[in-house]
Amino acid sequence: MKAEANLDFTGRRFLVTGGANGIGRATIVRFLSGGASVACLDNNAAALEAIASKAGERLLPIHVDVTDTATLDAAVEKAAETLGGLDGVVNAAGVDLQAGVETMEDAAWERLIAVNLTGPMKVCRAAVAHLRQAGGGTIVNLSSGAGLRPLENRSAYSASKAGLQMFSKALALELSGSDIRVNVVCPGAVDTPLFRSGISGGEEGEKELQSIRARYALARIAEPDEIAAGVAWLSSPESSYVTGVILAIDGGRTFH
Ligand SMILES: NC(=O)c1ccc[n+]([C@@H]2O[C@H](COP(=O)([O-])OP(=O)(O)OC[C@H]3O[C@@H](n4cnc5c(N)ncnc54)[C@H](O)[C@@H]3O)[C@@H](O)[C@H]2O)c1
Repeated sequence: MKAEANLDFTGRRFLVTGGANGIGRATIVRFLSGGASVACLDNNAAALEAIASKAGERLLPIHVDVTDTATLDAAVEKAAETLGGLDGVVNAAGVDLQAGVETMEDAAWERLIAVNLTGPMKVCRAAVAHLRQAGGGTIVNLSSGAGLRPLENRSAYSASKAGLQMFSKALALELSGSDIRVNVVCPGAVDTPLFRSGISGGEEGEKELQSIRARYALARIAEPDEIAAGVAWLSSPESSYVTGVILAIDGGRTFH
């Protein structure tokens, strides 16, 4: 895997959900090249195998769905046991849903909330004891620009991401005095499998991409590593006085 210029993560132990693709994967590349050990929790077996075969022995792949409490709790325990503890968590697992409210199916709404909002809560619930045991740590939750300004036909996604922001602030408050910092990153459009799944093929898709680029002051779509850079900073001692922050890494979308 590509080595990035990086912060020093020597000896640090991270758990990253959704790490087999996109932003989570780019974050793992940064952690590994900085010297960390990483447990990658993902429900995509093929993508997990692909990243594991390239990453080397400091990566522990664990196949798990973040919505399933029993197997998730076991996965967090396995990660902590294998890595010898946990210093940081990144919740990057997420799914998208384009659906109008009037035709919303209960199961679709509930699944999205379960993955994007309840999933990070379950991961934090299981991991915080390990961060306490390490004497402190970091949690970074991947929200979205859609949690700052709504996206059309994405009420479930936008609500899940806004909810994740407030959950994270509330957790930062709850953990005050423990030296566990909880922060949020809100990416704009990032070129990942999740982003591409929402774009049509052919000429129609090119038009959609053009109109998306036009929403951004930087007039382009981000690469996953541009988001991972912020996640890495929030996971490092370089951000030691930062907690409860909502950091937009969005090419200027929020003011454009
Ligand atoms: N790509 C974007 O434009 C964009 C923009 C804003 C926010 N985000 C957010 O950033 C995060 C990462 O997105 P991405 O674009 O890298 O997505 P991605 O689809 O490329 O990667 C997400 C990973 O999460 C995994 N995953 C999904 N559901 C899971 C589950 N139930 N249990 C375990 N793993 C699961 C997938 O298998 C995948 O490997 C998501 O939370 C997403 O909502 C993405």
